[in-house]
Amino acid sequence: MSKAKKTQVGVLISGRGSNMQALIEAAKAPDYPAEIALVISNRPKAKGIEFAKENNIPVQIIDHKSFETRDEFDKALNEALAKANIELLCNAGFKRLLGKEFVEKWRNKQLNIHPSLLPAFKGLNTHERALDTDVKIAGCTVHFVRFEMDEGPIVAQAAVPVLQGDTPETLGDRVLKAEHQIYPEALRKVASGEVKIAGERLVETSNQSEQEPLFSPPLEKNQAETP
Ligand code: GAR
Repeated sequence: MSKAKKTQVGVLISGRGSNMQALIEAAKAPDYPAEIALVISNRPKAKGIEFAKENNIPVQIIDHKSFETRDEFDKALNEALAKANIELLCNAGFKRLLGKEFVEKWRNKQLNIHPSLLPAFKGLNTHERALDTDVKIAGCTVHFVRFEMDEGPIVAQAAVPVLQGDTPETLGDRVLKAEHQIYPEALRKVASGEVKIAGERLVETSNQSEQEPLFSPPLEKNQAETP
């Protein structure tokens, strides 16, 4: 029996690559619907490159500094992606703004992970700003990419509590653990066709169920048990 063709995925990184790592690990499962077929880093020294290579994933370094314009960089990126027959892109800590043409070309075929519960805290320093505004719940979001930064239909979110005494680092670590769980799951849903975009909204074809809310701070025990 012939195996179902897996969606060919390109992962864009700029640094540590821990989300890329989570995607690579998830894609090792025989029934995972996506194959990580290429990793591209725009930074020659990105730490993630090593892990990808160790896992026999083709890696290309396309250093943005060797191009005079954003368009030229985007073009080189597109050429590499076309050559590797990439069908879906995952930005994983990719710290480079992409041009409008590139983003339109990959419309509904490019995912990003952001360390906040969008639309709150778009941009940089999300954990510092979450702590400054004293929110009690933080989290992360996987969304389709649009030209406007950190915009686009949301595929999945995970919420974590903000704890007393948290620093941007401790909160960031808690959010990052959740990132590593939702990104592979979001990619699975998109690659399998379980979610689709209609207009600017996500349509989910799988069953969803009610879950317990996350309380932060936690409820007192007797309150939690009230029917
Ligand atoms: C992750 O926390 C990711 O959500 C964030 O950069 C980090 C990359 O870590 N991305 C953004 O802030 C994009 N706006 P990683 O390289 O270990 O995956």
